[in-house]
Amino acid sequence: MITKNTIDKVFETAQVEEVIGDFVNLKKAGANYKGLSPFADEKTPSFMVSPVKQIWKDFSTGKGGNAITFLMEHEHYSYPEAIRYLAKKYNIEIEETIQSDEQKQQSDERESMYLVSEFAKNYFHDILLNSEKGKAIGLSYFKERGFSDEIIKKFELGYGLNDWSAFTDEALLKKYELEFLEKTGLTIVKKDDETNSVQRKFDRFKGRVLFPIQSMSGRVLGFGGRTLLTDKKVAKYVNSPESIIYHKSKILYGIYQAKQSIAKEDNCYLVEGYTDVISMFQSGVENVVASSGTALTSDQIRLVNRLTPNITVLFDGDAAGIRASIRGIDLILEQGMNVKVVAFPDGEDPDSFAKNKTQSELKEYLKNNAQDFIQFKTSLLLKETQNDPIKKAELIRNIVISISKIPNNIQREIYIQECARIMDISENVLFNELSQNRKKEQREASKTSTSLSSTFTGIKKETKQAEKVDELFGIEKKLIEILLLYGNNEVDFVDYTTVIDDDGKKIIEKENYTSLVSNEIYIHLQDDEIEFTNPIFLKIYHEIIHKLNQNQNISIDSFTNHQNMEIATVVTNILMDEEKHVLSDWERKDIIVKSKDKHLPKLVTDVIYNLRRFLIEQKIKSLINDLNSSNAAEIIMDNRDENMEMVLNYTSLKQLLFEKLNRVL
Ligand code: CTP
Ligand code: MN
Repeated sequence: MITKNTIDKVFETAQVEEVIGDFVNLKKAGANYKGLSPFADEKTPSFMVSPVKQIWKDFSTGKGGNAITFLMEHEHYSYPEAIRYLAKKYNIEIEETIQSDEQKQQSDERESMYLVSEFAKNYFHDILLNSEKGKAIGLSYFKERGFSDEIIKKFELGYGLNDWSAFTDEALLKKYELEFLEKTGLTIVKKDDETNSVQRKFDRFKGRVLFPIQSMSGRVLGFGGRTLLTDKKVAKYVNSPESIIYHKSKILYGIYQAKQSIAKEDNCYLVEGYTDVISMFQSGVENVVASSGTALTSDQIRLVNRLTPNITVLFDGDAAGIRASIRGIDLILEQGMNVKVVAFPDGEDPDSFAKNKTQSELKEYLKNNAQDFIQFKTSLLLKETQNDPIKKAELIRNIVISISKIPNNIQREIYIQECARIMDISENVLFNELSQNRKKEQREASKTSTSLSSTFTGIKKETKQAEKVDELFGIEKKLIEILLLYGNNEVDFVDYTTVIDDDGKKIIEKENYTSLVSNEIYIHLQDDEIEFTNPIFLKIYHEIIHKLNQNQNISIDSFTNHQNMEIATVVTNILMDEEKHVLSDWERKDIIVKSKDKHLPKLVTDVIYNLRRFLIEQKIKSLINDLNSSNAAEIIMDNRDENMEMVLNYTSLKQLLFEKLNRVL
C-alpha cells in the first residue's frame, strides 16, 4: 500500500490546473480556468477549474472534484493508480507500507508479470511492423482484412515469428526471467525427463497474429493469437492462460481504447470478437468492447458500469449467438443497467458489416436497429409461438422474468406497460406475475445474501417519498454549505423568546449574542436531537463537529482532498456551485460576498428553522395519517386522544416557528 506520507506529498504538490491541463485546453477566466468539457460534446465551455480552491467542476455533466477525482473520471484510474500517475508526473518517490513477505512476493510477482507482458507487446508489435517476415506475413494479413496502419498502431497489434522460440530467446537475452515468461504463458516449458535436467522452451504464440489484451488503465494482461492457417484442425485462437494477472471473466477486450468514448457517448457496444472491435473502431464507432467469445459475466458488466449505465449488445444472426445474448441481457438488467440489442443481417457480424459501410451508414444502422430488450425478446420468441396460447403464456412469463430482474421500480413499471402493449394483455395480469416473481427472487436473494432490493410497492407511493426526500436534501445541503463556507465565522445572532409577564400577558424578549456559525448550528441541532438523514452529509457534519469540539478551524482542503471520494465530490460540488454563482456576474462578485456576510445570521437561522418546520410538518402528517387510518377501530380511544393532542401541540409549535421565521425575515 502507498503510505499516507506519499499521498499527502502528492496532494501538496499536484496542481489541479496542471494535471487537467494535460488533457483539456484551459483558458484563464478571472481567477479560474475554463475549457470545453472533456465529458460531453459542447461548443461553449462549461468546464471550470479553480486554482485557488484546487478543484474542478464540469457544469454540463455535474461531475467535479480534485486532481485525483479528475484522473479517476477521465482516465478511469483507481485511487492508487491516480496517486501513482501523479507521483510519476511530479517526480515524487512512492513509499509503500511494509508488506508481509507473502504480500511482497505476490505483488513482486504480479509486477514482474506485467513487465514481461509489456515487453512482449512491444516486441510483437515491432516484429509486425519492422521485420521482413512480420511485414510479409502478419502485416499483410491485417492489411488484407482491411485494417489501417493507424488502427494497427492504436491497438498495438503484433505478430509472433513462426520459429519455436524466437520470442523466448529474445526475452531471456533482455534478462526477463523464465519464471515469469512461463507464468504469463508466453513461454511453454517442457521437461524432457524425470530429473528435469533438460528443459525445452516454446513460444506459445508462434506464427500467430496477436491482439494484446489490456486493463482499463492500459496494462497488458495477456494476448489473443489468431492463426493464419485455414486448417480446421488448428485452433483459430490461442489465448493467454488464466494467471494472477489474466482473468478472462473480468476482462473486456478494447476497454482501454474505448473507455473515453464509452463515457462520452454514454453507451457501450458489446461485440463478440477482437476483429469486431477493431473494425467498428476503424469505422468510427469507438465505444465498443468484446467479451472475447465467452458468455458475458457480471464482472465484465460492472467494468462497463463504471463508465456508463447503457449497454447495446450486438450479435450475428445465428441461433447460438442469440441464445448467448439472451442470458447476457438478464445479467445486465440485474445490475440495474439499461440494455438494447442490435441484430445484424443473416451471415454478417459487426466486423464484416462495418467493413463495407461508411461511418454514417454504420452509425445510422446501429441507431435504427436498436431494440429494447422487450421488443427484441418478443419479436424473437413470437416467431416461435405463432398463435399457440400456451406458448404465448410461456413467452410472457419469460419476459416478465427479465423485467423482474430490474432493481428500479419505476423502470419496471415502464417495461410492464410496454410489454402489455406489445403482447396485448392487461397490465394487471403482468403486475401480478411480476410481484410473484419478485417475491420469489427476494426469497432466494435473502437466502444467499442480504440484498437490499425492495419489494414492489407501486410507483405512486415512491414518487411522493422522493419529493419529501428532495426537500429535506435541499435543506441539509444548505446547512452543510453554510458550515463549510462560514462555519469559522463569528456572527451576531438574535433570538426571540416568548415569556409570560406578571399580568399573564405574552411578551417577546429579544436577546443578542455572538457565536461561531458552526457552534450555533450544532447547538440547535443537538437541542432538537436532529440528525442528518443523508449519510454523506452526516459524515461531513460529524467531522466538522469533531473539529469544532477540538477548537480547530474547519479547513475546506481536508474535505476536497478527502480519502472518501463521495465526501470529496459532494464538497467540491457545493463549492463550485457557489463559484459559478459568483462567476456568472463577475462585476458583482464583491457585492454578493459582502451581502452574504451581512445576512449570515439570518441565513443560518432561516435554514435551521426551515429544517425544524419541515420535520414538524412531517410529524403532523404522520400523526394525522395514523388517526385517519382505516383500522381506527383497533386504536384504543385513549391512544387516539393522545395522538390528537400531539397534533395540536405540534401545530402550535409550527405556528410559533412561523412567527419566528417571519420575525427573522
Ligand atoms: N475465440 C477464442 N477461441 C476460439 C474461437 C474464438 O477465444 N477458438 C474468441 C475470440 O476472442 C474471438 C471471439 O471468440 O475474437 C469470436 O470468435 P470468432 O467470431 O470465431 O472470431 P473473430 O475474432 O471474429 O475472428 P475472424 O473475424 O477472423 O473470424
Ligand atoms: Mn467473428
